[in-house]
Amino acid sequence: MTSTFTIAIDGPAGAGKGTLARRLADHYRLNLLDTGLTYRAVAHALIQHALPLDNVSAAETAARQVDLAKLDRAVLSAHAVGEAASKVAVYPTVRRILVEKQRDFAKTPPGAVLDGRDIGTVVCPDADIKLYVTASAEVRAQRRLAEIESIGGTANFNEILADIMRRDERDMGRADSPLKPAADAHLLDTSEMAIEAAFLAAMAIIDDVLAKRNKA
Ligand code: DC
Repeated sequence: MTSTFTIAIDGPAGAGKGTLARRLADHYRLNLLDTGLTYRAVAHALIQHALPLDNVSAAETAARQVDLAKLDRAVLSAHAVGEAASKVAVYPTVRRILVEKQRDFAKTPPGAVLDGRDIGTVVCPDADIKLYVTASAEVRAQRRLAEIESIGGTANFNEILADIMRRDERDMGRADSPLKPAADAHLLDTSEMAIEAAFLAAMAIIDDVLAKRNKA
């Protein structure tokens, strides 16, 4: 591996990219950044101060204060925070502040796995590997429901599905850095694939790139 190696993973909410990113970071001994947490941190700060999510200058201030070393997944993983994050993520100035921090993280040796919506297209367009991980909205809703039920919660499948579709629409439809596969991304559809199979498929893609590079 060169001094920094970057794996960019993009895809919609609930496609399994977070788990995949963690597995790959462990396997290839790379740093890991879930960039969704950075947008969640901004949304969470606004919610904490009872500020409206369209207060762009407050969102910019919150974005400047985001410390990548202090992102608290337990606090930020709440469903409402994800929904709010998708709303603050439409503002270009907020994105620019967070993207700069994400790029600095990616440049730190030995490199990193970053997952999000615009990693392969905007944050790390020169990433060594780009993966676009997706799954049908129905499968993603089913997984979310199973996750909620596994911790003793209850939820309605149709409501989860509607939520997921609304989030997709916002993330794919925004003007700045919409969610879409980079032209050179490898597509991984996990609709009918367990996470282990997705991990093996991703590893095959990455090992192939590494082998070709070592031969060159
Ligand atoms: O991956 P997640 O659910 O934690 O992301 C929450 C929201 O943050 C997502 O709906 C859109 C936004 N986001 C983004 O715009 N760009 C990223 N690179 C990561 C997340």
